[in-house]
Amino acid sequence: MKTVTTLEDLRRARAALPDPLGLVPTMGFLHEGHLSLVRRARADCASVGVSIFVNPTQFGPQEDLDSYPRDLERDLALLRDEGVDLVWTPTPEIMYPPGFQTWVTVEELTRPLEGARRPGHFRGVTTVVAKLLNAFQPQQAYFGQKDAQQAIVIRRMVRDLNFPLQVVVCPIVREPDGLAMSSRNAYLNPEERRAATVLHRALTAAEQAFRAGTREAEALRRIMSQVLAEEPLARPQYVSAADPETLEELQGPVERALLSMAVYVGETRLIDNVVVGDRG
Ligand code: PAF
Repeated sequence: MKTVTTLEDLRRARAALPDPLGLVPTMGFLHEGHLSLVRRARADCASVGVSIFVNPTQFGPQEDLDSYPRDLERDLALLRDEGVDLVWTPTPEIMYPPGFQTWVTVEELTRPLEGARRPGHFRGVTTVVAKLLNAFQPQQAYFGQKDAQQAIVIRRMVRDLNFPLQVVVCPIVREPDGLAMSSRNAYLNPEERRAATVLHRALTAAEQAFRAGTREAEALRRIMSQVLAEEPLARPQYVSAADPETLEELQGPVERALLSMAVYVGETRLIDNVVVGDRG
């Protein structure tokens, strides 16, 4: 496994790797969710690249950029064990040199849900992902369903800007008690960690109700909110039943829905989702 920092070294090392190359963009502090993307890329592609970059432009001024967990040595050891070929660990100065002023924005799809609560977040994500795709020139790029809106926004960007690659979205990986894996779970103290399972319980309750015939979007949102209300440490920011393609909030009877939520547990903001209905 080769680990490089500069763009020149990345391009040189990339050119020596066989196609198709699968890219897994990450912000490091890797967990089983990331590793599931790496394993899928390893199974699908002749070579596998991973980027580790805590992207400052996708964090708001009040967000956790400075405290975002980092452990590069451990990450590199995990990636080596997975048979990754190339890791890029650029610095913020390499990614955003002085004078940087070009941004990629996806419009409608970034307005609701996470976009409404994290202004500028998706502009940072799409810009850095566009740069990573240009640098690695992968044939496949892998993202997790845990960030459902991010996956949809990136798919749109890839189509709209004619990036010649396929976006692969992999299922959420959960802890045994249902908590979706996230680098931010490291912030939770033991009591909060126990309380954090409420997100999955709320989603599961709505999913079960849907399977049992509950179709009204309002009822699905209410079920999720009721389960969340039972957990005193949980402070929901939003609870949504949205169209899985357009992300518009649904009203009345629904056939398919992206059920999603953002919930503060203590100071930690957690997100989770499930798609219900056909192809869900
Ligand atoms: O999902 C993430 O970890 C980040 O948003 C990504 C896609 C690596 C861009 O910084």
